Amino acid sequence: MLHDESFFLRQRQQFPSLQRQLQGHPVVYLDGPAGTQVPQRVMQAMVDYLTRHNANHGGCFATSRESDALLHEAHRAAADLLGADDPDCVFFGSNMTTLTMAVSRALSQTWQPGDEVLVTRLDHDANVTPWALAARDRGVVVRFVEIHREDGTLDLDDLRSKLGDRTRLVAVGCASNALGTINPVADICRWARQAGALTFLDAVHYAPHAAIDVAAWGADFLVCSAYKFFGPHVGLMWGRRDLLESLPAYKVRPAPADLPGKWMTGTQNHEGIAGTLAAIDYLADLGRDATGQPSLDRRPALLAAFAAIGRYERQLGQHLLAGLLQIPELQVWGIADEARWAQRLPTISITHRQWRAAEVAERLGRAGIFVWAGNYYALQLTETLGLEPDGMVRLGLVHYNTIQEVDRTLAELAQQAPP
Ligand SMILES: Cc1ncc(COP(=O)(O)O)c(C=O)c1O
Repeated sequence: MLHDESFFLRQRQQFPSLQRQLQGHPVVYLDGPAGTQVPQRVMQAMVDYLTRHNANHGGCFATSRESDALLHEAHRAAADLLGADDPDCVFFGSNMTTLTMAVSRALSQTWQPGDEVLVTRLDHDANVTPWALAARDRGVVVRFVEIHREDGTLDLDDLRSKLGDRTRLVAVGCASNALGTINPVADICRWARQAGALTFLDAVHYAPHAAIDVAAWGADFLVCSAYKFFGPHVGLMWGRRDLLESLPAYKVRPAPADLPGKWMTGTQNHEGIAGTLAAIDYLADLGRDATGQPSLDRRPALLAAFAAIGRYERQLGQHLLAGLLQIPELQVWGIADEARWAQRLPTISITHRQWRAAEVAERLGRAGIFVWAGNYYALQLTETLGLEPDGMVRLGLVHYNTIQEVDRTLAELAQQAPP
């Protein structure tokens, strides 16, 4: 019996899709890093919005005012999730990639030819190519932070050596969506600030697992996506107020020039934002339940949720890691030392000595275990590790997974080994 197991099995009941069966067996969803399952209340919030409140915002009638109120509350919830004190500095959009493209276009207006931006070989391409494209347009140099291949961590000496007078921006992930590596973002933000550079943090992979804290980290921008933390397909971004106010946003007329509207182009996905609010409140309620304090405010409740989730995921993740290391045909990429668990999330990528990644994923899929194979857009990484074109198989645990699911996955992988 794991610590907190019955508590998390109860949370699991809130996710209708987890009832799905394939050939008489429950499906095992290990595809969370590509998008998590959604609790009933998130779906309900979206249906309620469309049923009872659907309207454009800013009007003088009931449904429009209700839409305004929803947006207001969603900004507050998102600020609580990100550790920001100003809800106007959080804005919504289609997804992380689209938001990053927009902000990169605006930010690059402040760059001069010969300036530099620093990206990493560990990041998802959505935190690399938007910067590379903006740099190309402005005559700016893109420099790459290398990784330690043996454990999939960033080479922090390399990062520091590449920070200099010319660095305008450091774009880095909070955690790798491929290897689960957690980056020391507070240190990186500090080093960047000392060099006079801004930081752009990609928290997409980190968000379902651990508490984000833009204020404590000293970030300048942070972006994530609700569909990775139990919500619908909506992107969220936070930025420092002075930057959001001073940067030139690409806007149509007569769209608002004040925050947050300045950065939200076109009519928003209100039902998706309703679902995002419900996902954040799902997590806050998980924290209230975990502590037995139903009246906790949202931010402390979210911190409590992520403390409980972290403890539980660690048990699942360590069990998975230990089991994988015992199957001789498998190679685990990234941090494989249990003692260094604090440096990783329970997202574990493997390769099989005999089968291609796509074949392993196919076999697991037939057995009702849903995983991804390939590079998951962490293309710099798979190229650096010499793993193109096949990539790796990614086993992504979140808090609705169970120890039985981990055992079933391990048994299936062990069976795939040649006798
Ligand atoms: C770490 C990371 N960053 C960025 C993205 C892109 O997010 P979106 O689909 O919201 O554009 C993903 C999606 O998989 C991701 O895992």
